[in-house]
Amino acid sequence: MEDPWQEAYDFAVEVARGAGAVIRKAAESEIKVSTKSSTVDLVTKTDERVEKIIIGSLKEQFGEGTHCFIGEESVANGESCNLTDKPTWIIDPVDGTTNFVHGFPFVAVSIAFAVNKQLEFGVIYSCLEDKMYRARRGKGAFCDDEPLAVSDVADIHKSIIISEHGTDRSPEKVKKIFSTMQKILCIPVHGLRGSGTAATNMCLVASGAVEAFFEIGIHCWDIAAGAVIVKEAGGVLLDVDGGPFDLMSRRMVSANNETIARRIIKEIEIFDSERDDAP
Ligand code: IPD
Repeated sequence: MEDPWQEAYDFAVEVARGAGAVIRKAAESEIKVSTKSSTVDLVTKTDERVEKIIIGSLKEQFGEGTHCFIGEESVANGESCNLTDKPTWIIDPVDGTTNFVHGFPFVAVSIAFAVNKQLEFGVIYSCLEDKMYRARRGKGAFCDDEPLAVSDVADIHKSIIISEHGTDRSPEKVKKIFSTMQKILCIPVHGLRGSGTAATNMCLVASGAVEAFFEIGIHCWDIAAGAVIVKEAGGVLLDVDGGPFDLMSRRMVSANNETIARRIIKEIEIFDSERDDAP
């Protein structure tokens, strides 16, 4: 049977590449910064502009009525964040906004597509590195044209693990984040890392450069595309409590295999984070 979403997949790659070019250009000029949920949750005119460009192109190509859109900046401006059975695009125009503002060289455009709540494909363009990561459900994951495969390390002592601090600075949450990191570091693992973009972190898992990335407090647009890419590269996704991965739950462990994922889960100190689809 013909792949019904191939055209959408190809188009998403094109749109992500164009969006990345806009971000690269914007990085050369002065960046005006505003804040959202906290003083460290940054947003720029480029985030808003790039999201408009992406959603505008997708609407023009696929029609407004049939496809739905969940975009980081649209949700920040009050639009719904409910994932329904309809074909839905899940977009982070600039993942790694803090990096973008500071000139730290990892910034990604993340575009995912779900139908019947199932992720069909994901595209992540790491635009400052000019690397195009992409995966279509059941058809493998690629960086540019190279197939991706997760690392085969099963011994946690030989692993590198990524986590991030997110944008919530309430002392009790920060304490749990650092306590988890301390416990994981002291297993011991070879190292802890963080690129400052969840999307890129997931591509690093998919590429085999690190064994796992976990975070509590991320949003669906940060991880939707990465979820397909990690899975198609042979990796696993779980909830931080060991249950099934839930895209809207704002928490996730992505890893090269279940042994590594479950060893990390043993150390994670869970804290509350309101779901993306909370009423
Ligand atoms: C952020 C990045 C960061 C993660 C935060 C996200 P944004 O996304 O992915 O790595 O730690 O939780 O909010 O705001 O730059 O799109």
